[in-house]
Amino acid sequence: MSNSHMSPLSSHPSGARRFQLRDNGLGFSRITIALHWIVALLVLSIIAIEIARSIAPGAELTRVLNLLGAILFPVSAYRFWARVTSWHPLPVGTPNPVEVIVSRSVAAALALAMVLLPVAAWLEKSAAGLPIELPGGWCIPAVLPTSPQAAHVFDVLFRIGATPFLLGLALHIFGACKNHFVLKNDALKRMLGKRVEL
Ligand code: HEM
Repeated sequence: MSNSHMSPLSSHPSGARRFQLRDNGLGFSRITIALHWIVALLVLSIIAIEIARSIAPGAELTRVLNLLGAILFPVSAYRFWARVTSWHPLPVGTPNPVEVIVSRSVAAALALAMVLLPVAAWLEKSAAGLPIELPGGWCIPAVLPTSPQAAHVFDVLFRIGATPFLLGLALHIFGACKNHFVLKNDALKRMLGKRVEL
């Protein structure tokens, strides 16, 4: 039987563990797991740099921030596409259905925000006429002509998106800690690559 005819819950016909490219009902793919932690590292670094810039602004910090945002955008675009076009693994343990719906909606919203926020920042800086410099003298080209009004609109949109994003991220990390330390289930270990039998 070819893979395309297998149910999303099926494992390999031979029963052997194969390299899984897409998520299915039984588990996250290695790609999802790797990209999840790459994105988490990028986002936490961006937040740390923003805090450092608010204390001591510096051109080099801004260049590194722009570079991290430029990496985040294509990785997140792939990840959001993969997230909405794949089956999502069943939750571990016996969670309350409302918690499952909330946690999945928050995770999907975080994935979408990772695509939209870098675009809003790009549009805002382009419209403000600010060069988007990268380390090594590189520059990201502007996508819009200079327009202070448009820059203001994109700045407001960025802030409207960033605030719920940070709240959602805090809730997401709280949920991961609750699963790990209070409920003592394998949700976090599964996102770290552990194979969990469902
Ligand atoms: C220290 C930070 C983080 C921890 C501890 C963490 C933990 C987890 C865990 C345990 C899961 C699996 C949930 C399940 O079994 O259904 C998960 C899934 C997910 N997380 Fe995180 N996460 C973190 C940061 C982030 C960040 C920064 C984002 C995006 C901005 C994010 C987005 C997602 C998404 C979209 C999923 C669903 C699976 C996927 O499509 O990748 N997480 N996270």
